[in-house]
Amino acid sequence: MGSAIAFNSAIYAARRAALKKEFGSGKLLLMGNDEASMNYVDNTYHYRQDSTFLYYIGISQAGLNAIIDIDKDETILFGDDPTIDTIIWIGKTPKMSELAEQVGISLVEPSSQLINFIGDGTHYLPPYRDKHTLKLRAWTGTKALKPSIKFMQAVIAQRSIKSSEEIEHLDKASSISRAMHKSVQENAKAGMSEFELISFASKVAWENNCQFAYPAIMTKNGQTLHNHYYGNVLKDGDMVLYDGGAELPSGYCGDLTRTFPVSGEFTSLQKSIYDLVQAMYNGAVSMSKSGVKYYDVHLHTAKIMTQGLIDLGWMKGNADEAIAAGAFTVFFPHGLGHMLGLDVHDMENFGEEYVGYSESFLKSTEFGLRSLRLGKKLQEGFVITIEPGIYVIPELIEQRMREGLYTEFINYEVLQKNMDFGGIRIEDDYLVEENGVRILGSDNI
Ligand code: GLY
Ligand code: MN
Ligand code: MN
Repeated sequence: MGSAIAFNSAIYAARRAALKKEFGSGKLLLMGNDEASMNYVDNTYHYRQDSTFLYYIGISQAGLNAIIDIDKDETILFGDDPTIDTIIWIGKTPKMSELAEQVGISLVEPSSQLINFIGDGTHYLPPYRDKHTLKLRAWTGTKALKPSIKFMQAVIAQRSIKSSEEIEHLDKASSISRAMHKSVQENAKAGMSEFELISFASKVAWENNCQFAYPAIMTKNGQTLHNHYYGNVLKDGDMVLYDGGAELPSGYCGDLTRTFPVSGEFTSLQKSIYDLVQAMYNGAVSMSKSGVKYYDVHLHTAKIMTQGLIDLGWMKGNADEAIAAGAFTVFFPHGLGHMLGLDVHDMENFGEEYVGYSESFLKSTEFGLRSLRLGKKLQEGFVITIEPGIYVIPELIEQRMREGLYTEFINYEVLQKNMDFGGIRIEDDYLVEENGVRILGSDNI
């Protein structure tokens, strides 16, 4: 079961009114998430409501759906009142009408009635859970689902611009995420396992009634971008890359990364690369503002990195030519950042091509650039991550060397001596403003 409703009813009513206005006419179906089983039916994963349902309806509880009927100007919530079994096993929960009232909805129907309200012209969003696909097939009577792109685009346009109350929650999520990072760094020492470090982050999250917004990346092998192995024992000389964030009970997320030396002190090479990642980060922060393409900011940081690696001797030649050839992707194969909100990769269930790009500006299909989840022009009110990194991925370097690629730009012999370097990333969360960006969360790490 879910958690308390985050905002007052007027906020949800205003969000639905804005969607109705944007959409014009028709019926919009919003599907809530059900529980999902781990290993047998009653042993479920931590419950997570669908973020779009949460945004417009606000109730984090399994088994709900809603229809916004624009022409009749009404919203109907579908769900079932608690039974005696619910009360025995889960506890006393509010009746549907009580929940609906808290989010400004006056019409409630039992779940079994939903099918009678869905017609040929009902718009629905692309499903990302198989169970939703099966339900939609049953409700619409067709296997060939036709999700509404127009509905999805209206939702993306609205959810992309964060309101002041959302920013308050995102600030709080970042602050708690910072406290998680601080505790990890303060407690880390040689001899500990990566999994022990996670326990410090977990304690801070639970102290604040938060979940992890995504599985922690806590690793001495930071070059593996989404490393979820936690079994290594740390020793002096190792660096730890921790990418972790809190998710508030309201669903808003933080997404932060720090890379730190176990001993408390970087080696001189680690420090050089760290400073370069910091310079990429600073370059991105200075350039980001409303109206600037995030694709251009990404390339700007790639240029800072390339010039720095040329100065350090890992790369060679001309930085602009190295960028044009794509050589930077060997060290920086992921994107500079993404949208953040109710999802850690906000709205990515709709596809990055819709959230981070547009019909007139398509996502690249090239290695490296295709991992840039957000490329389009930034707008005031976007919340984004800035997360540059430099990685030595031995298998990738060896493959590029075997392919005879980038021989003019990469000093493969020098790299051969540094194949165990690992990876460094720095990540923070930012609100886009007219003339720049503001970091989210108080209390720097
Ligand atoms: N935590 C995943 C990411 O930074 O995108
Ligand atoms: Mn991120
Ligand atoms: Mn992250």
